[in-house]
Amino acid sequence: MHTTTDIRHLDRHDGQPVRIRGWVQTTRAHGKVGFAVVRDGSGIVQCVLVQKQVAPETWQTFLSLTLECSIEVTGQVRADGRAPGGYEVTADSLLLLGGSEEYPIQPKEHGVDFLLDHRHLWLRSTQQRAILRVRHEVEQAIHDFFYAREFVRIDTPILTASIGEGGATLFPVDYFEEQAYLAQTGQLYVEAAAAAFGKVYCFGPTFRAEKSKTRRHLTEFWMLEPEVAWNDSEANMQLQETLIAYIVERALERCAAELEVLERDTSKLANATPPFPRIDYGEAVEQLRAHGSAIQWGDDLGAPEETMMSEGRDRPVFIINYPRQAKAFYMKENPADPRTVLCDDMIGPEGYGELIGGSQREDDHDKLLRSIRDHGLPEQAYGWYLDLRRYGTFVHSGFGLGVERTVAWITDRPHVREMIPFPRMLNRLFP
Ligand code: 4AD
Ligand code: MG
Repeated sequence: MHTTTDIRHLDRHDGQPVRIRGWVQTTRAHGKVGFAVVRDGSGIVQCVLVQKQVAPETWQTFLSLTLECSIEVTGQVRADGRAPGGYEVTADSLLLLGGSEEYPIQPKEHGVDFLLDHRHLWLRSTQQRAILRVRHEVEQAIHDFFYAREFVRIDTPILTASIGEGGATLFPVDYFEEQAYLAQTGQLYVEAAAAAFGKVYCFGPTFRAEKSKTRRHLTEFWMLEPEVAWNDSEANMQLQETLIAYIVERALERCAAELEVLERDTSKLANATPPFPRIDYGEAVEQLRAHGSAIQWGDDLGAPEETMMSEGRDRPVFIINYPRQAKAFYMKENPADPRTVLCDDMIGPEGYGELIGGSQREDDHDKLLRSIRDHGLPEQAYGWYLDLRRYGTFVHSGFGLGVERTVAWITDRPHVREMIPFPRMLNRLFP
């Protein structure tokens, strides 16, 4: 009897008969011996066929195999030190399950637009699989980190009437007779949940109608948003740096093979240990101007400024306490300088830009109401949010970590579009 197995687990069946199923990556024949490399998602194995030892139909099937056709192989597992994964399968039969004629992605250079148009097939390629496995590990690390710290996961709505991050990047949705939007953030809702559970987080897709084409922006991206009662801005940053160090450690530990495929210089990642430097916004502006930037006090940092701030550093850096006018309405006024708010942006090293945006939240009802008005937001949509300051207001802080930017940094890829299985950008809604 042949035992069906994942290729990853062939080592459990050394010398035994097995059945594997997968997709053909390459074939070659040396005279009367044929080789087919098969991928099943868990691993890759070379199957060897000896013409004299298999039925004529099996040899014919072997000769008809094409790139990315799907097959079933039965045979004998054999340890082989030279084989990728350490094992080979000596095939005794081979079934073609699904043909594949003229597979569009060939082993040659293709333009990125062509590859994105064929994203449904591009996912099968070695580098793309390595990237998405790192993403998977980063996501699992996030959940494990917060579970171990007794946070409660809160699922926040995608359809919302409350604008979280400002009007410029909203996707409007017709909601019967009302105006709704796709959520830009789950933050306002996890703030409510923080008063119910203390330590909470949400993790899900968020939407921004970003009209610019940059390598850091998607219109649909995934964000982690923790929110913690009684944390001030400094405690908030400590949680961020501890989390980042944990995510990096997990990727280094469990994705070594993927990072090798991606040729990531892991020695650079290994430095991402706390504490990360904290630089006051005013100080950052002075440094940037000294390096030739035209930034003025009051401006947000753009991508070039973020890159300048990360230059020459081996770990992320916090820029803290931005001017009120550069940031969202909910951030707490800085008692030491009321022109500014208690917030932080964590800028990744190696030019990866803002990985995290976080802040202490305004917990004073009247100041928050004033800020909602100053930002020109529809007051009636925030009654419930103001209630959190009316009934047992509390010091609290939280942050948002962009999954794709974090994965781009860890895998050392220049563009976030490859960090998500099916990217959504200006001009890309397909496939
Ligand atoms: O700084 P942002 O806009 O913060 C918030 O949304 C807060 N409500 C988070 C919170 O405090 N709970 O976004 C947070 C992070 C950014 O640092 C970035 O990593 C990522 O989300 N991000 C994007 N990633 C890809 N494409 C976009 N268009 C992004 N916009 C933000
Ligand atoms: Mg931000």
